[in-house]
This record gives sequence, structure tokens and C-alpha cells, in this order.
Amino acid sequence: MKPCAAVVLAAGKGTRMKSGVIKVLHPVAGLPMLSWPVSAAREAGATPIVLVIGHQANAVQGVFRGDGGILCAMQEQQLGTGHAVACALDALSGFRGTVLILCGDTPLLRPETLSDLLKFHADHAAVVTVLTAVMDDPHGYGRLVRDEDGRVTRIVEQKDADPEEQDIREINSGIYCMESDFLFENIRSIGNNNAQQEYYLTDLVAIAVRKGLTCLAMPTADADEIMGINDRVQLAEAARILRRRINRELMLSGVTLVDPEQTYIDQGVSIGADSVVHPNCHIGGETVIGCGCEIEQGVSITGCSIGDGCHIKAGSVLEGSDLREDVAVGPMAHLRPGTVLHNHVKIGNFVETKKTVMGEGSKASHLTYLGDAEIGRDVNIGCGTITCNYDGVNKHRTVIGDGVFIGSDVQLVAPVTVGRNSLVAAGTTVTIDVEPDSLAIARVPQVNKVGWRLKKK
Ligand code: UD1
Ligand code: CA
Repeated sequence: MKPCAAVVLAAGKGTRMKSGVIKVLHPVAGLPMLSWPVSAAREAGATPIVLVIGHQANAVQGVFRGDGGILCAMQEQQLGTGHAVACALDALSGFRGTVLILCGDTPLLRPETLSDLLKFHADHAAVVTVLTAVMDDPHGYGRLVRDEDGRVTRIVEQKDADPEEQDIREINSGIYCMESDFLFENIRSIGNNNAQQEYYLTDLVAIAVRKGLTCLAMPTADADEIMGINDRVQLAEAARILRRRINRELMLSGVTLVDPEQTYIDQGVSIGADSVVHPNCHIGGETVIGCGCEIEQGVSITGCSIGDGCHIKAGSVLEGSDLREDVAVGPMAHLRPGTVLHNHVKIGNFVETKKTVMGEGSKASHLTYLGDAEIGRDVNIGCGTITCNYDGVNKHRTVIGDGVFIGSDVQLVAPVTVGRNSLVAAGTTVTIDVEPDSLAIARVPQVNKVGWRLKKK
């Protein structure tokens, strides 16, 4: 097949989103909307990919910064889709081949559909091929007009269509293949004499037909795929469809989703076979989960790596953490970024960790804050233990050696070290380093004043 480049139109603001954020940057199933068609074009083999940007150009560019395959072309004023493509052509000046043209607001488009379109276009040696769909309610879309013999003649926009044309149910998806020579030669001959006074890219269809060039339409089987997102109702609908696709793939690969309709897993997450995910979990940020894990209901996991056989109990929140194998967490635990839990670690209810490493077999079973701590193997952290890691200005580290037993309600005022195999008695505030194999105890001696209450009365 010929070389293929892509142009993705993303300069418009997306007024109907009623948002301060440009439409194409709204996230859908974990990715900015625009990333979906861009990935589809890339997977279909397009290179380079030129983004036409305008509104919030810096923010859009930011998403793709450092991505070599993506070029950006500025469209200062949004004068129409034809004008937008014209703005992209400088970036493609050296390119000869087929140009895929897409819109940034079609996150449901599959790479396979683009490959089919490219193949259809090449097989028929077409100059222009339009991806179309037959819709029950075509309102709002451009209609594909064919002659008596079914040949494509032109596309007419909703606002320019006469009543007869408005009855046409085959619509323009806004996705096309065009030969670069044809584009370069004709893009500037588009006028703006129409209802919206815009330069319509769709006029290239009539231009190609008039010149006797091969201009075809390929109807897609799944009209969902070309759904353009204009408002937040459609945004939610698209997210639901993408989640279904993601969940289906996971289930077919051996993951049990107890209720897939209520499971929110973003693109880019991987989960191993025989893991079970209960309802109302949110898993995102390129999280990797191993085999045989159980993720109970209402768990939120972002940017984590979780080894085989882990059990994350209900209501826990895990961010940027690294769990090795057979680790148990929760219920209602909060693992913050920089947490590393080695094999067989157990974190219980209402425990919060941050930038804390726990060695193999160590436990913090209840009501504890562990921040900036380095904890060895087989350590027991008693209920209510707090690392006092912040003095109001700086953060300090707590180091706890292998085999240490920390009693309940202990405060460790960092920086502080508890040597291996020591015991810190319940209620102790540790301010001085503890040598290995020692007992540390710091309590105010207890006084019992017998009969004190009676005398008060
Ligand atoms: C367009 C098509 C219509 C098709 C529909 C499919 C034209 C004239 N019409 O209509 O036939 O059925 O898509 O969804 O092409 N954009 C720019 N710069 C501009 C104008 C638009 O970058 O100057 C971008 C928008 O940000 C958007 C895309 O192009 O991503 C489509 O523009 P939009 O105004 O939504 O076109 P439609 O009216 O939906
Ligand atoms: Ca649109």
C-alpha cells in the first residue's frame, strides 16, 4: 500500500460542552478524547500525524509533547473544515501518498475501521473515499448524495440541505481518505458560499466528481464508531461504549468482572488471568495487576503495579504504589505515591502510607500513618502508630529494622531509627534512636489517686 499520513482536526472549541476546557481534551476512559483517533490513525499505519490546533493550542500540544510522530499545525481562526485541512498541508509538503482525514472528537473509531477504509480506497484506486454510515436519525450530519445509479455526487450539510436531501439517511462521518496530489491541487478552490459561510472540506467530493476522478463512499457496519462527541451526554455515552470494549477484552483474557457494567477500567490498564474485580472499582493510570488478585468493591487504583495473588479490600485507595506478591491491603486503606510493599505484607483498615517501603512479611493492621519510612522484614506496627515525619518545614525519615515490634499508640518523631529486633512499648513517643535488640519505653509514670472522685463530690 502507498504511504499514509493523517490529519486530525482539533481546532474547534466545542461550545456545546459548556466547558472551560476544549472539547478534545475531555477525558474518555482515561485518555483525552483526541488521543483515541490519534492512536487509531497510528495503529492503522499513518505517519506523520498532523494535528490541526487552534483553541487552547498549548494544552493540546502538551498532551503529545515528545511524541515524534505528531506534528501540529496552527489554525488561528476556525473558518471551516476545508480551511483546517489547508492549514495542515504545509506540514505535509514533502509527503506523497494517501491522507487520512479524521476529527478529534470521534473516540469510538477503531483502527481496524481505518485499515478497512485505506484498503477499500487502495483496492479501488480511488482519489477520494468517504466513510459513511446509515443512521435512523441523520439530523445534524452532512448527507451523502448519490445519483440514480448510486454513484457519489456530493455531500450536503444539514443547514444547506433541501427537504428531499434531509431525508437521506446515509451520512458523512467526517472521516476520509484522499490522495495527497488531489488535496494539494484542490484544497484552495473550496469556496464559502453556503449557509455557514465556512470552507467545507466536504466540497472536495463534488470537486473530485466534477473532474471525473474516482470518488467513493464506504459505509461502516457500526454507526456507533463514528459518533462525534458534541456535548456531555454523548461524552458519557462514548465512555460507556469504550468501557464495554475494555471490559470485554479483559473478561475474554481471563479476568472475572463481577458486574462489568459497574466496573471502570481505563485504557492502558492490564490485569492478569484469574483476577477478580468487584463492582464500583476505578482502575486507571496504566496500572498493572497480576494474576489471581482480588479487588473488592469500591477500590480506586491509579498508577500502581500489583503483583500476583494480592487482595485489595473494599474501599481502599491506591496511588502510585508498588505491591509485590500476596500483599493484603484494606479495607479502607490509603496507599499514597512511593509506597512499596514487599511479598506478604499486610496493611489493615484505616492505614495510610506515603513514600514508605515495607519489607517482606511486615504488618500494619490498624489505624496507622506511615510516611517517609523504611521498614524492614517481619516488623509488626501496632495499632495507632504514627510516624511524625513533618516538623512544619521539612519531612524526615523513620527507619525501622528487621523483626522490630512496635506496640500500639507509638509516635516515632523523625528523623529516628529503631534498630533491628527491638521492641517499642505501647504508648511510647520515640525521640531518640533505639539500639538493636533493645526495649524502648517512654511513658509518664501512672499515679492512681484512690477515692479521688468521692472527695470531689
Ligand atoms: C462535519 C462535516 C459533516 C459531517 C460531520 C461528522 C463539514 C463541512 N461537515 O460537520 O458533513 O457529517 O462533520 O461529524 O466538514 N474543525 C477545525 N477547524 C474548523 C472547523 C472545524 O479544526 O475551522 C474541527 C472541529 O474541531 C471538529 C471537526 O473539525 O473536530 C469537525 O467540525 P464540526 O464543526 O464539528 O463539523 P460538523 O458541523 O460536525
Ligand atoms: Ca461535529
